[in-house]
Amino acid sequence: MKLSNIKMDIEKRVAYVTINRPEKLNALNAETITELYQVFKSLKQNDDVLVIVIRGSGEKAFVAGADINEINRHDDISGRIFALRGQKVYRYIEKMNKPVIAAIGGYTLGGGCELAMACHLRIASEKAKFGQPEINLGIIPGYGGTQRLPRLIGRTRALHLLLFGENIDAKTAFEFGLVNEIVPDEKLEERVSELAQNLAGKAPIAIKYILQSVTDGQDMNLDAGLNLEAELFGNLCGTEDMKEGTSAFLEKRKPVFKGK
Ligand code: COA
Repeated sequence: MKLSNIKMDIEKRVAYVTINRPEKLNALNAETITELYQVFKSLKQNDDVLVIVIRGSGEKAFVAGADINEINRHDDISGRIFALRGQKVYRYIEKMNKPVIAAIGGYTLGGGCELAMACHLRIASEKAKFGQPEINLGIIPGYGGTQRLPRLIGRTRALHLLLFGENIDAKTAFEFGLVNEIVPDEKLEERVSELAQNLAGKAPIAIKYILQSVTDGQDMNLDAGLNLEAELFGNLCGTEDMKEGTSAFLEKRKPVFKGK
């Protein structure tokens, strides 16, 4: 796969996807969005990878938004296509069969905040800044921000951030429930790798079903969500990993999961 704006390394069953346009604060142009889709499509099929970390290159930004140079050239037709395209890629990430952790070390604005919100876990350095500043450009978020932000932090806080276009710091993002954890900047990489390795040791099918049950279940009514959960629970009870996990507990030993 030829990639110009994204780097990908795999280490100990964890894929590190790095958005690599540091001179533009990793702003997502159309080419980067396409590459992101290609990378995640290949990672979904890659059984050697159990966890994915997504991060930005350079010191200053996770992702400072969609590329404003490109947005500036859109009209009403192409703008809609632009939004649908980004939404599709982010939804694909959100529906991945393995956990996606956003390692957030700086500006996480607009399409960057929307990308982080499509990930399953968000770990921020204390210097991270979050916001949906689109209002200041005369637009609205187009990659899911108006939908995921209120779901994650509640309508009251989301409307404030969306309407005023103000940034919040990592501490506030944590208080709002936008990030899972804040760590000192120099510890970000180490902490994220530690979490990724921890997840890589857990039962992969159970992880996949937790992601599916929570992501799909959130858009269902409670009865349908409970049905989904019971179906997935039943499927798991037919796996070798269930036998291994429960037997290991009973035999007072550590389980070794195979994803079967
Ligand atoms: N799209 C395109 N280019 C962007 C960008 C974006 N979203 N965000 C930053 N850049 C570019 C800048 O234009 C600049 O390029 P240049 O050196 O060719 O002029 C480069 O990245 C560095 O950014 P700069 O603004 O000089 O850094 P800063 O430290 O002074 O400010 C920000 C950092 C994040 C506050 C500022 O870049 C910013 O407000 N970016 C836009 C954020 C935004 O509105 N995002 C939502 C987009 S929908």
